[in-house]
Amino acid sequence: MILVLLGPPGAGKGTQAERLAEEFKLPHVASGDLFRENMKNKTELGLLANRYIVEGELVPDDVTIAMIRDRLERPDCENGVILDGFPRTLAQAEGFKDILAGMDRTLDGVLYIAVPDEELVRRLSGRRICRRCQTPYHIQFNPPQNHRVCDICAGVLYQREDDKPETVRARLNVYRQQTLPLIDFYCQYGLLTEVDGSGDIETVTAALSEAAHGLNK
Ligand code: AP5
Repeated sequence: MILVLLGPPGAGKGTQAERLAEEFKLPHVASGDLFRENMKNKTELGLLANRYIVEGELVPDDVTIAMIRDRLERPDCENGVILDGFPRTLAQAEGFKDILAGMDRTLDGVLYIAVPDEELVRRLSGRRICRRCQTPYHIQFNPPQNHRVCDICAGVLYQREDDKPETVRARLNVYRQQTLPLIDFYCQYGLLTEVDGSGDIETVTAALSEAAHGLNK
């Protein structure tokens, strides 16, 4: 199964992609995590991505599409993948179509996680991320057992640079301008399912899981 999770910053794509990946035994591929990994390792790609990410802007399409193509060609994606954060422009959606066509694969569905703006800001301002395994926590809604350390791998938790209020505002604007058009794009192919993402984490997981199982029928 090839599944895309679409939604605004803070909608819960990363949180839910992890859970779906576990349920469906598929890799979770997050463009943001791939960029942050490169930034941490100070690779050429990481240094380039950092310039855009700190401003809340999108990394250029050609760079992003090439990075995702490389990742999808790895053997662990043979049986499918849960994509989080890609595609997020029309050019990326077209590039993704070409990647899949070249691999003789098709997209099974896009699950759009809808969450009101005020809730997004609350979620992003309280988010903490594991520096080692990237698991997201929330100081109020999904706290770790120890507030400084990841429950899964004991990595140190930190607040993302782009979760500062002014950068969050920029990211939401970019989302509205460049990513929202993907809803119509995937609707026209009958691939889009909207899921209410405003409930608690368990409720949203159940709704997404049901929608994902529906795609396999
Ligand atoms: P990326 O890392 O993809 O960030 P994003 O899309 O802005 O999404 P987030 O990671 O902020 O949120 P999320 O939806 O995953 O929510 P989460 O599960 O963490 O991208 C970062 C940057 O990289 C971009 O700005 C861009 O510069 C660049 N980039 C990435 N992909 C790109 C691409 N394709 N093209 C170009 N540039 C790209 O949840 C948020 C918080 O809420 C957490 O604290 C969580 O614990 C909590 N939470 C989750 N669900 C719930 C719930 N139901 N109730 C209460 N709290 C919840």
